[in-house]
Amino acid sequence: MESLMPPPVRRIAADRQATVAPAPSSNGGEPALDGAPARARGLSRPDRPRVPAIERMRAENLVLAYGGKPAVKGVSLPIRQGEVLALIGPSGCGKTTLLRSLNRLTELTPTATREGRILLDGQDVDQLEVTQLRRRISMVFQQPNPFPMSVFDNVAYALREQGKKRPGKKELAPQVEEALVRAGLFDEVRADLQHPALRLSGGQQQRLCIARALAARPEVLLLDEPCSALDPKSTEVIEELIVRLREEVAIVIVTHNLQQAYRVADNVAFMYLGDLVEYGPTDQIFHAPTQHRTREYVGGAFG
Ligand SMILES: Nc1ncnc2c1ncn2[C@@H]1O[C@H](COP(=O)(O)OP(=O)(O)OP(=O)(O)O)[C@@H](O)[C@H]1O
Ligand SMILES: [Mg+2]
Repeated sequence: MESLMPPPVRRIAADRQATVAPAPSSNGGEPALDGAPARARGLSRPDRPRVPAIERMRAENLVLAYGGKPAVKGVSLPIRQGEVLALIGPSGCGKTTLLRSLNRLTELTPTATREGRILLDGQDVDQLEVTQLRRRISMVFQQPNPFPMSVFDNVAYALREQGKKRPGKKELAPQVEEALVRAGLFDEVRADLQHPALRLSGGQQQRLCIARALAARPEVLLLDEPCSALDPKSTEVIEELIVRLREEVAIVIVTHNLQQAYRVADNVAFMYLGDLVEYGPTDQIFHAPTQHRTREYVGGAFG
């Protein structure tokens, strides 16, 4: 089914044609590692049912600069519901800048400028009202940042912000519960919904932030190193959550943890010094990268 595995989109001049690795087996489980570089052996990807991919966003020739100095240099990418896109690359290569530009958060930085187009469901994001845009494209940051209020109110806040009349607690309860369930947190907090969110563990706080982000039913969820402050167990819980959520929301995750990118992503974009060096299915990027810079980067990490 072509719609499930579109060809990679790349804007760099390649010295040879990109080769696309075979699609994962129909159960979506382990990639075939026969013949793969030794560094990729021993890695595993959790079972992941294939789900239909629907394009929600597209970046076209995106250029971002701070004070005229380019940080992202002409990136084009599709972002699809049904797939997780991981942005990887060394520190300072522009991952956060690219991510923040998608819901126009870069506009909060006075020196930042942007060229190129960003489309959400075919519409130019510049033509959307910015609060609406950020409701539709929600972001979760590296450090969990729950508001200093109850677990319930953290999620309810996002719903109340949606405008209209300000609904009461009772009215909001089912939506709050649903968001907590979707974020995989409800069972742990159902008895403590009125407790301060800041008393939750780091992993729970991050899932609360994901619940808050999901409450407004965004089409796209942007995650900037969401697990880097968390212990391995919480990281595992959030990775499972990400893989599950991709069915209902398009997900872009920035991560320094290449094993994490390998575990959660369907597609990977490798950036270097502001350039999109290579974009493609996760198996291709890790097992058969076409660019030597990608090879060096993913190889170094697993070597
Ligand atoms: N607010 C800012 N003002 C000026 N320059 C900035 C600003 N934010 C980022 N930069 C610069 O833009 C470039 C890309 O930064 P960015 O934060 O996007 O990288 P990154 O890939 O997310 O790095 P890291 O992995 O360390 O988080 C860097 O050179 C950085 O110094
Ligand atoms: Mg960053």
